[in-house]
Amino acid sequence: MRLLVTGGAGFIGSHFVRYLLDRYPDYRIINLDKLTYAGNRENLRDVARHPRHRFIKGDICNRPLVARLSRQVDAIVNFAADTHVDRSITRPASFLQTDVIGAGVLLDAARRCGHGRYLQISTDEVYGSIEQGYADEAAPLRPGNPYSASKAGADLLVLAYGRTYGLPVLISRCSNNYGPYQYPEKLIPLCITNGLEGLPLPLYGDGQYRRDWIHVSDHCRAVDLVLHHGIPGSVYNVGGGHELPNVDVVHRIAAALNLPASAIQFVADRPGHDRRYAVKDEKLRALGYRPVTSFDEGLAETIRWYQAHRGWWKKIRAGAFRRYYRQRYHTSRAGKGAVSGFKPQVPATHSRTEKSR
Ligand code: NAD
Ligand code: DAU
Repeated sequence: MRLLVTGGAGFIGSHFVRYLLDRYPDYRIINLDKLTYAGNRENLRDVARHPRHRFIKGDICNRPLVARLSRQVDAIVNFAADTHVDRSITRPASFLQTDVIGAGVLLDAARRCGHGRYLQISTDEVYGSIEQGYADEAAPLRPGNPYSASKAGADLLVLAYGRTYGLPVLISRCSNNYGPYQYPEKLIPLCITNGLEGLPLPLYGDGQYRRDWIHVSDHCRAVDLVLHHGIPGSVYNVGGGHELPNVDVVHRIAAALNLPASAIQFVADRPGHDRRYAVKDEKLRALGYRPVTSFDEGLAETIRWYQAHRGWWKKIRAGAFRRYYRQRYHTSRAGKGAVSGFKPQVPATHSRTEKSR
C-alpha cells in the first residue's frame, strides 16, 4: 500500500509514520507537512532516510501539489491541522484555512484519484463539553472554540463527500494525546518543561476541567484499525480510558519532578473553556481496540523522555515559542516568574497560587 500521510512531522503524525514503517514492511509513505511552528523534522530523525518514507515540505491547501501526490498513493490519512485551542482563540484564520479548506483540497484530490480510503483524524472536541455521560458517534456536534469548530466543519465535509461522491471516507475522533515529541504548548509537555526550567505550572480557572488522556501509541493503533477495518462512511471515537481533572494531572507532574504544590499556579481561564470531554468508543472496541498504556506508566515514561531530550525542547523553547509564551502567559521579558493566563475575562480570584492540597 502507498499512503499519503499529512502532518507527519507533528506530534501524532510522526509517531504514526514510524508505526507504519515498523508494522507494515511493504508500505510506502509520502509525508506531506508544511512545517509550521509545530512541525519539526527532528521528530522524524530516525526515519529521515528510510527507503520507504519520502518527506515533502508543502501545504495541504496547495491544490496542484496535493493533486500530484495523491496520484501516487492508494489512500490518504489527514493529520495536518492547526491544533492548539488557545492559538485558535487569538488567531482563528489559519485554523479555518488548514483544518477546513485543507481537508477540502485533500478530499477533492482523493475523489479525482478514485482512492481506496480517506481517513480524517478528528477530535472528541467536536462534541463540545459533555458535562455528564459519554458522547457516542451519533451525538450532535457542538464545538465550543474556533479549533473544534474547524475540525467539526471538516468532519461534515468528509461525510458529505462520502455520501455525495461515494468516496470511502472514515473519521476517527480521539481524546487528549500525550507522549514524546509533543510540542510544549500543550498542558502535559508545557508543565513538564516548565517544571524542568523552574517555571510555574499554569492551571486554567479552577483546575477542575476534565480530559480523557490517551498515550500516543494507543492512538496510532486505533488509527491503524480504523484505516484497515473501518466501514467506509463511518465515524469512530477513540478514548483513552483515563479521565482526570487537570489539577490531578498537574499535581502528578509536580510530584514526579519533586516540585512543591506551590509550583502550580492558578491563572485566568481560557475563554469558552469546555468543562469535560468524554467519548464512548465501543464501536472501535468491537474492531479489537484496547488502550494498553496506563496513565501512570505513560506519564512517567513521557517525563523521562523530556528529561532525556532536553536538546529537542530547549531548541523549541528558545525560538518563537519564547515570544508566544511571554504573550500568552503575560510573563516578564525573561519569561520567568508569575504567569497570569489569558488577558480578557480575568476573574481576580483565579490569579492565586496554590499553597497546598
Ligand atoms: P501538531 O500540532 O503536533 O502537528 C500538526 C502538524 O500539521 C505539524 O507538523 C504541522 O506542520 C502540520 N501542518 C499544519 N498546517 C499544515 C498545512 N497547511 N499543510 C501541511 N501540514 C500542516 O498536532 P498533533 O497533536 O500531532 O495533531 C495531529 C492531528 O490529530 C490533528 O488533526 C489534530 O486535530 C488531531 N488530534 C489531536 C489530538 C491531541 O491530543 N493532540 C487529539 C485528537 C485529535
Ligand atoms: O481533546 C482532544 C484535543 O486535545 C485535541 O483535539 C487538541 O488538538 C489538543 O490540543 C487537545 O486540546 P486541549 O485544549 O484539551 O489540550 P491542552 O493541552 O491545550 O489543554 C488540556 C487542558 O488543560 C484543558 O482543559 C486546558 C488546560 N490547560 C492548558 C494549558 C495549555 C491549563 O490548565 N493550563 C495550560 O497552560
